[in-house]
Amino acid sequence: MDGFDEDLVNALKDVVRHGNWCCVGEKRNFKPGCTKLYSEDGEHVVLVRTEDDGFWAMDSSCPHEGGPLELGDIEDLGNGKLGLICPWHHFDFCLETGISSTGLQNQVYEVRVVQEKVYINTQNMLSLSPVPEDSSVPSGTLPLEAPIPTTSENSLCFWARKILCTPDPKEKVTLTQEVQERWNSGKITEVGEAAPPAQPWRKDNLTVVDPKKMKRGRGGTLASRIALLHSLANMEQWAIDLSWDMIARFSNFRLSTGEPLPLQFFNDFVKVAGDEAKHYNLMEQRLTELGSYFGALPVHNGLWQSAKDTSHSPLARLAVINMIHEARGLDVHPQTTSRFAAQGDDGSVRALEVIYSEEITHVAAGLRWFTYICREQGLDCLATFHEMVKKHFRGYLKPPFNTEGRKLAGMTEEWYVPLVRPSS
Ligand code: FES
Ligand SMILES: [Fe+2]
Ligand SMILES: [Fe+2]
Repeated sequence: MDGFDEDLVNALKDVVRHGNWCCVGEKRNFKPGCTKLYSEDGEHVVLVRTEDDGFWAMDSSCPHEGGPLELGDIEDLGNGKLGLICPWHHFDFCLETGISSTGLQNQVYEVRVVQEKVYINTQNMLSLSPVPEDSSVPSGTLPLEAPIPTTSENSLCFWARKILCTPDPKEKVTLTQEVQERWNSGKITEVGEAAPPAQPWRKDNLTVVDPKKMKRGRGGTLASRIALLHSLANMEQWAIDLSWDMIARFSNFRLSTGEPLPLQFFNDFVKVAGDEAKHYNLMEQRLTELGSYFGALPVHNGLWQSAKDTSHSPLARLAVINMIHEARGLDVHPQTTSRFAAQGDDGSVRALEVIYSEEITHVAAGLRWFTYICREQGLDCLATFHEMVKKHFRGYLKPPFNTEGRKLAGMTEEWYVPLVRPSS
C-alpha cells in the first residue's frame, strides 16, 4: 500500500469512527482563498485553500472583535507557516494552530480531503448558505410600557434624546460632559421619560459599511495603528450613545413592584456616558497627533446591531452590551496595548490604560444592575444571564479571558465559562 492509500484508509477509518466529520462539498468547488461555511450554532467557519492545495479551517469570527476572517488575506508568517490576517486590525492567525502573534488564539478544525471531497471535523453541520434565522420575535421577560412621552427640558431623558440626535461626535461629547455636570450638581432634577431615536444620528461624512464588508487597506505600522485607534474611536462614539439610549429607553421600565429603576441606576449610566465621552476624546486626540482624524476611514455599526437585538429588555441589554461586549474589551486590552507598546507608541498606551481602568467600572455597573433587576424580579441571576446571552448573542465566548480584569469588575468565572464552546 503506498502512502496515499494508507492516508485514505486512515481517513476513512476516522470518518467511520467519529460522527463528527462533516462533508462540505467537492474539492473542485473551493478555489484558492477563503470560503465561509455557515454553522447551525452561529459559530461559522472559514475554509482556506492555499495555492499549494492545502486545506485548513478555523472559526470565521475573529477572536479579537469579531472581524470577518473569511475576508482576510493569507500570508506567509515568516516562520515557514501560513496565516490568515484579519481585515479589521490585521491580527494574524496561524492556519495550522490558530495561534496569533498577538497572544490570541482562534479555534481551528481538522480538514481531510478524501476521494475529492472535503471533510471538516466539527460537531456542527456546515453549509455554504446561511442557516435560516429563527424568525420568532425575541421574548423579553420584562415587557416595556409604550408609548414613551417626551418630557421637559429639565429632565435627564430630554437631554439623553438630544445627545442621541446629535450627529457630530465632538458636539456629542461636549453635550454629554455638560449634562453630566448639570446632573451631578443638581441642576437637572428629574429623570423624566423620552423615546430614544430608532438609531443614533451620525455625521454625513462618516462612511458606514456593513461590518462584514469592512476591509482596511494594508499599511505600514503607522497605518495599522491609526486603523486600530480609528476603530476604537468609533466604538467609543457608540458607547456614548449606548449609555444615553440605556437611560432614555429604560426610563419607563417598571419592576414587578411597579417601581421605576432607582436613581442610582441613572447616576451610574450618566457616569458611564461621561467616561465614554472622555474615551472618545482620548482616541480622537491620538488620531490627530498621528496625523489623521476621525472619519478618515470607514466604520461599522456592529455594536448598534446588538443594541437593537436587546432593545426590548434592560436585562438583555445589560447582559449583551455591558457584560459581554464591554467585558470582551477587557479581554483584548493586553493584546491591544502590546501592539502599540511594540511600536514605541507610549501616548496611545497611556490613553488605553485610562480607558481600561474605567471600562472595568462599566462592566461592574452592568453586573450590578443586572443582578439588581434579577433579584427584584425573583429571577436566578446566573441562569437568566446564560439564557439571555444564548438567545441574543450568536456564537460562543472565546478565551483567553482577562480573568483578573473581569474579577475586578466582580465578574467571576461562573458567569462566563459556561458560555464557552463545550469541548467535543
Ligand atoms: S477584529 Fe480581527 S483583528 Fe480586530
Ligand atoms: Fe469606553
Ligand atoms: Fe464602556
